[in-house]
Amino acid sequence: MAEIKARPARREDMPRLLEIEKAALPSLQYLAAVEDLFFDTSNGELVVVDVDGVPAGFGRITVQPDLSGWFETARVDPAMQKMGVGAALWDRRLKICNERELIAVRMYTTFENEGSKKLAYRNKLDIAMFGREYSLPLAGVEAPTAPDFKQVTKPDEADAALLPYVLDYKGYYIANRTFYAANPATTAWLAGDGKVYAKDDAAMVCGSRYLHHTALHFGLMGGNLDDCISFAIAKGKEQGVPKIVTMIDKEDEKRAQVLTARGFVMSPSNIIMMERML
Ligand SMILES: CC(C)(COP(=O)(O)OP(=O)(O)OC[C@H]1O[C@@H](n2cnc3c(N)ncnc32)[C@H](O)[C@@H]1OP(=O)(O)O)[C@@H](O)C(=O)NCCC(=O)NCCS
Repeated sequence: MAEIKARPARREDMPRLLEIEKAALPSLQYLAAVEDLFFDTSNGELVVVDVDGVPAGFGRITVQPDLSGWFETARVDPAMQKMGVGAALWDRRLKICNERELIAVRMYTTFENEGSKKLAYRNKLDIAMFGREYSLPLAGVEAPTAPDFKQVTKPDEADAALLPYVLDYKGYYIANRTFYAANPATTAWLAGDGKVYAKDDAAMVCGSRYLHHTALHFGLMGGNLDDCISFAIAKGKEQGVPKIVTMIDKEDEKRAQVLTARGFVMSPSNIIMMERML
């Protein structure tokens, strides 16, 4: 029987991990672009699972500012799937949650991803949100005059500005398909990171988590939605990114309508975020 063992990744694993990434999910490859971030052990671990000493899969656990564990980028070589590599990856990441005394585990996948969902359910996660991602390509879009948003850097002011809208997002902020629970620790971090903006009649979280050159993500908008979108477009244009992206709750008809009216295109992916409080 094959020996399956999980361990921290080493830099020299990268060529093999890139091979696995390409084979497992060719449509979504970004490991090379986030390599340094993923090897930063201060906020998590890039886990590799070996089968008889050969890397067969990998995945990361990222510790978020409120001490939630974000499980991301699980990839197993298709030739080595359904033999327990994914399960070993989960075991190691849950062990890290325990060691670091984390308060929750979350991940996203698509509703159709049976393997991914099975592992999450088996480890006692449940679906916490159904999401829909919307993108607006910026080529050919005129830069609007940016509405008069001010950056909010004080945690309590950021909380007060965002709180009226977070339930429309089931209580989460989202950027680059990464979900953060809305709570004082998260809001303080977002405000400190310069991602919270507000004006009299609107508030938003705007700024990507990573891959800054590929898209500007905005993680929440509330109040005057047209102004929020104009602000994101203006910022995207200023940064020179090809598109702006946002995710909303699947049942949020109001935002869906405004986004569609402004030319955003909905991704066909049925995104689900799964969660377990620890
Ligand atoms: C999802 C993924 C990580 C699972 O890895 P894995 O090594 O195959 O997982 P395991 O072997 O530990 O399987 C766990 C269980 O899920 C089942 N399973 C795995 N893939 C499955 C699939 N495609 N359909 C149905 N069940 C599946 C296994 O049979 C096993 O169930 P069992 O213990 O009852 O037999 C892997 O399929 C993968 O890399 N997919 C492509 C990338 C991806 O989708 N990543 C997740 C997105 S966030």
